[in-house]
Amino acid sequence: MKNNKLVMIPGPTPVARSIQDQMGRETVSFKDPQFVQDFKELVADLKNLWETKGECFVIAGTGTLAMEIAIANTTKSGDNVLIISQGFFGDRFIDLCQRRGLNVDVLSSQWGDVVSEKELETKLSEKKYAVVTATHVDTSTGVRAPIEEYGQIIKQFEDTLFVVDGVCATAAEPEYIDEMNIDVLLTGSQKAFGVAPGLAIVWAGPRALERRRSFGTIPDSYCDFEKWLPIMHDPMKYYGTPAVNLIWALKESVRIIQEEGLKNRYARHRKEAEALQAGLETIGFSILAKPGYRAATLSNVVYPEGIDDVTFRKYLAEEGIVVADGIGATNGKLFRLGHMGNIDKHVLVSTLAAIERALYRCGYPVEFGKSVGTFSKMLFE
Ligand SMILES: Cc1ncc(COP(=O)(O)O)c(C=O)c1O
Repeated sequence: MKNNKLVMIPGPTPVARSIQDQMGRETVSFKDPQFVQDFKELVADLKNLWETKGECFVIAGTGTLAMEIAIANTTKSGDNVLIISQGFFGDRFIDLCQRRGLNVDVLSSQWGDVVSEKELETKLSEKKYAVVTATHVDTSTGVRAPIEEYGQIIKQFEDTLFVVDGVCATAAEPEYIDEMNIDVLLTGSQKAFGVAPGLAIVWAGPRALERRRSFGTIPDSYCDFEKWLPIMHDPMKYYGTPAVNLIWALKESVRIIQEEGLKNRYARHRKEAEALQAGLETIGFSILAKPGYRAATLSNVVYPEGIDDVTFRKYLAEEGIVVADGIGATNGKLFRLGHMGNIDKHVLVSTLAAIERALYRCGYPVEFGKSVGTFSKMLFE
């Protein structure tokens, strides 16, 4: 008998049955009164849950589109932008901003580490920036940036807006938009929301909306807040066809989040990630991200000496778990394990057990059950 394959990459994450059912519904007109009502409720719930006095946009597209939207509405050609980068996705803002004629400065950390608050403060004192970007969790490193602390610093610099990429964080890592001085938070549907890929979700606080209004007409149309705002207020209106079934799927995801409680969801992710990471460390792996800055959403798991990446991931897939390879310089040295969204402890225990079996098949000395034991024990600590 063949094993079921669990997709434990850092997105798309496993999609719960009730969310899949929404995607499988008969597609209706986007002017269907019930759909319009559902869309309206979804936008209102997203605004309330993430605690902003601003607006929320749900638009067909991926996380990268959400990044474009954030920058298109908060900058104009010739502006200075400071990019805080903890890896590959932080760096993605560089090209995206340069193509828009922005003057880009970058604060980078070693992969696995973070840019310090001091470095940020110094840089902001040297030059006036229209926008600072940061990636809450960089998927290439598994590092969680100190967003709240960055926000406190940026707050001291009037007219500098704070854009946060939450693609690998939102709905799993704490994010309180207004309280954390975030002006734009952006994410996608396929990670901690546990929906299939295809929706860009963007929250814009009052200062970001004001910045956009101050520009008049901008070169972008699909990315323009002003084009979408009437639809987010009244989805009976039209600009671009809404992704009807994905919107229903996201609504079901938000219902699941409300049932769990967003704060409980944050606590679950944190507790299980720490237990999982400790379990992996007891069987010879190490975690790339420094303690204190490890994401609750994914782990970048460094191989012990002598383990071949391709062979390990092949055996692991045969044992029923699909993980992702390392990006850039980490390729071959680690695998990336997603552990976010609507997954439970059964899935995590199965994942650890399969990792032990794959390690054993690689000829590495394994005490079966060791990582699982550590994981279960830590859930009670
Ligand atoms: C942190 C981060 N930002 C942005 C993106 C880009 O999102 P997408 O692939 O949905 O365009 C990703 C994708 O994995 C990501 O992890």
